[in-house]
Amino acid sequence: MLSSSTLGYLWENVFLFSYIAVIAVGLVFYNAHLAYDLHRLEALGKADTTTTKRPSPSPALKASDHVNDGKYHLLLAATGSVATIKIPNILSALAKYENLSIRLLLSNSAAEFLRGQADEQPTLEQIAKIKNLDAIYRNADEWQKPWVRGDSILHIELRRWADMMVIAPLSANSLAKLALGMSHDLVSSVARAWDTTGLIDGLREGVRLASAGRDSARKVIMVAPAMNTAMWNHPVTKRHLDLLSNDWGADSRGWFEVLQPIDKGLACGDTGGGAMKEWKEIVAAIETGFPDLREREGAKKT
Ligand SMILES: Cc1cc2nc3c(=O)[nH]c(=O)nc-3n(C[C@H](O)[C@H](O)[C@H](O)COP(=O)(O)O)c2cc1C
Repeated sequence: MLSSSTLGYLWENVFLFSYIAVIAVGLVFYNAHLAYDLHRLEALGKADTTTTKRPSPSPALKASDHVNDGKYHLLLAATGSVATIKIPNILSALAKYENLSIRLLLSNSAAEFLRGQADEQPTLEQIAKIKNLDAIYRNADEWQKPWVRGDSILHIELRRWADMMVIAPLSANSLAKLALGMSHDLVSSVARAWDTTGLIDGLREGVRLASAGRDSARKVIMVAPAMNTAMWNHPVTKRHLDLLSNDWGADSRGWFEVLQPIDKGLACGDTGGGAMKEWKEIVAAIETGFPDLREREGAKKT
């Protein structure tokens, strides 16, 4: 039993005790909420890098495992232009070929355009179902497993694997990176590690490339710049493109082929130069580059 003096003490401080009790209950709720938020954030973070369903990026890609697969190897890359929404069209048009293997690289900005936000912008999971697309890679895939001696290095294996790289669209930022030799993400690392001499990789035996007529063993990177008209008109764009098309152009013993942009009304509302070449022409350029592509029996004409 509590003595009358204790009861008196409690009664006198009833407001203080109530106040402490309210604070304590509040803290419990606040912590529970915080824990829930952290859990959700963790789940979201994981979804971004590891649990998203898409074709296995196979961090252990070994180009040598695919040398004799009897297929052309197309490394298709997209960087952060709105024209990335044409990637599904390009892939679908190439799905009819039985002897074509495609690996798709997306810069972080490019991936933002393919999140299922519109019919013409499906998710990567949907895109992954297109025939001939064997893997989709994001920057994080380069570092999926902590590297140790003996492991393959993704951007080098992708370079070795590719018979041709096509960057469509090529953003102003990625154009600048190519011109300056910068390589801080997967797309630019592959391009920076390209065999510009033709002496390292050579061409795969039995694989006939249109570029081989110009130069026996140098593989080509086709780029399709796409940007706002003001970006296109900026003098630095011409400097960067001159490097790619003249100094390093495939026609003058280099390795770049520039698919020049066109004039039209752009998605941002401006009208003028800088729009990506029509996607069908990009497909046609790929088909020209791989002269022995074979259509699957019964493939629909596009
Ligand atoms: C909605 C939106 C559309 C964009 N469109 C283009 C574009 O068409 N061309 C371009 O060069 N940059 C465009 N940008 C800016 C690039 O996404 C930005 O420069 C980015 O850093 C490019 O990074 P990346 O080259 O690594 O993909 C756009 C940005 C946004 C938010």
